[in-house]
Amino acid sequence: MKSVHLVVTGFGNVGRAFVSLLREKRDDLTRRYGLEIDVVAVAKADGCFFNGRPLDVRQISKGGSLWTAGNPAWREGMSFGDLFDGWEPGGCLVECTLSDLRTGEPGFSYISQAFRRGWNAVAASKGALVVSFRELKDLAAETGLSLKFSGATAAALPTLDVGMFSLAGTRIESIQGILNGTTNYILTRMAEGLDYDEALKEAQSKGIAEPDPANDVEGWDSASKILLITNACLDGDHALRDVHVKGIAGLSADFVRSAAREGRVVKLMATAAPGRKGGRWSLDVRPSVLNATHPLFHVSGTEKGITFLTDSMGTVTVTGGRSSPRGAAAAMLKDIINIYRRPF
Ligand SMILES: NC(=O)c1ccc[n+]([C@@H]2O[C@H](COP(=O)([O-])OP(=O)(O)OC[C@H]3O[C@@H](n4cnc5c(N)ncnc54)[C@H](OP(=O)(O)O)[C@@H]3O)[C@@H](O)[C@H]2O)c1
Repeated sequence: MKSVHLVVTGFGNVGRAFVSLLREKRDDLTRRYGLEIDVVAVAKADGCFFNGRPLDVRQISKGGSLWTAGNPAWREGMSFGDLFDGWEPGGCLVECTLSDLRTGEPGFSYISQAFRRGWNAVAASKGALVVSFRELKDLAAETGLSLKFSGATAAALPTLDVGMFSLAGTRIESIQGILNGTTNYILTRMAEGLDYDEALKEAQSKGIAEPDPANDVEGWDSASKILLITNACLDGDHALRDVHVKGIAGLSADFVRSAAREGRVVKLMATAAPGRKGGRWSLDVRPSVLNATHPLFHVSGTEKGITFLTDSMGTVTVTGGRSSPRGAAAAMLKDIINIYRRPF
């Protein structure tokens, strides 16, 4: 049995879902993978939950809210760095803080500190990877540690695993994805007759869209994902400013309905392809009309999908995958299993 220690940074929707999922899967992880995985600390901006033993979600939150006052496991003011004193290297950071696409913080500081302490890292947050991908990748390589981020690249939909491992040895000639479940839901409902504002309101009332949906509907979430997927699968060094981004905010219902009348669909497509004459790759996100023959034509509602065009394996498409904090948590758990499982 291999014992794996985890520190979780950020205990919002995804952090909570991760700790609950780990509890639910505990026996399975032991039986199938020989892994005994424990969360030994959860870091917030103003302190840490830590008591020197594995933590359970009931020692962190009560009645759905974080439990700090009077909690023996809560250490006000304890910093993330302090947590590593007394622990062997070899554990894994589970980075679930917010995605700040401008500064990359606090994710960058957490991931780089973890590497310096000899810990691997998996991330659901995108900020650090969008802003400092090359630096983090080099740091991981220098220290011989793993950096995985399925949770940040469409979560339950396998994108990096396909592009980096399943397509190894091919030349990827282009990548096209529907990488944001919220906008795909809005577009699906618009094709069914709602206008943009109605579809957005419905998505918000169902908890699919956030109260501030800008990141999704203006296309930046999709842009971050296609950027990370391209940089990881093609060893690229594109920056977010290189991505041409047009979202679906305020999209005309007529545009979506007239496509539907012609048997076509409008999707927010994130695309990466070589520039003219095979030059530097060009990345863009924009509402696009797909014909019924397109491999992503049937991806509807909150589903996502990705298509890789390759030289030797042809076109490879993956669709589906839960769009939710639980889906993101499951993607991080998959990454952790793949870091620590025995090879066979
Ligand atoms: N929700 C999804 O379905 C989903 C799917 C894939 C990826 N993601 C990514 O996963 C990450 C987490 O998403 P979420 O939905 O869980 O967001 P969330 O509910 O807003 O949680 C983010 C958490 O980060 C905490 N935080 C902020 N600054 C921190 C710091 N310096 N140290 C430690 N914690 C800090 C926040 O705490 P305070 O509230 O106390 O500031 C909050 O609890 C985001 O980056 C998101 O883009 C989310």
